[in-house]
Amino acid sequence: MKNTVTTLQEQKNNGEKITMITCYDYSTAKIMEESGINIALVGDSLGNVMLGYEDTLQVTMEDMIHHCRAVSRGIKDTFLVCDMPFMSYQADVYDAVINAGRLVQEGRANMVKLEGGVEVCPQIEAIVKASIPVCAHIGLTPQSINSFGGYKVQGKTEAAAKKLIEDALAVEKAGASMVVLEGVPAKLAKMVTEKLTIPTIGIGAGKDCDGQVLVLQDMLGMFDDFVPKFVKQFGNVGEVMKNAFSAYAKEVQDGTFPGEEHTYAIDDDVIEKLY
Ligand code: KIV
Repeated sequence: MKNTVTTLQEQKNNGEKITMITCYDYSTAKIMEESGINIALVGDSLGNVMLGYEDTLQVTMEDMIHHCRAVSRGIKDTFLVCDMPFMSYQADVYDAVINAGRLVQEGRANMVKLEGGVEVCPQIEAIVKASIPVCAHIGLTPQSINSFGGYKVQGKTEAAAKKLIEDALAVEKAGASMVVLEGVPAKLAKMVTEKLTIPTIGIGAGKDCDGQVLVLQDMLGMFDDFVPKFVKQFGNVGEVMKNAFSAYAKEVQDGTFPGEEHTYAIDDDVIEKLY
């Protein structure tokens, strides 16, 4: 079944959890499609896990479009959400609409995601008016790392919790179709989820959100530069890769690989004529 804004909303209405995983390339997108994951997110976390940057601030529109197009070629029914990178929407509404349009037109995204609450509502309204669905992202928003002074859980004080609720209600009113809640206490995320009619997708926000998202490399055990508390490893692909690389190196070095079965033949008389 094709995932759309309508089916995702129905999942919330029916109490059926939504699954989202980040994805940055064609081969992984195909596996994700076969697994029946609802949403592939081309997150700007690609700056960390694919490009080796220490934060997401250096990621460009070109990076996002490049990876989003690759993912789009590997999926069919999976819904495709693409992050708007830092400074592609913050400065003004015009930039926001043009850049959201590029992610849809060139990147082939079904929806764009941007970080922020009340302060980005004019951008959300304008993008939605251009017929582009928007996913908001509130709580621990990595593009604000310099203002937060680090990757810190958000919404823990009464004032901060009220601000998070205000942001959630504002982005819904502005027309967002979905909202990611990152790094917020579980009870607060539950309250926000109950207050909103649109689906909430949690990451480090407890089990009561309408869906969950994890970064692919985190959940597969392929990235250990920084492992947040909320990450669960569902596989140890890093270990599997290391073992495969070592086995390959050993077989190349001892001459076992390539074997006869991996080799193309040529008639001996052709070879003899070449001597
Ligand atoms: O960039 C990203 O991967 C994200 C998720 C962590 C939600 O925004």
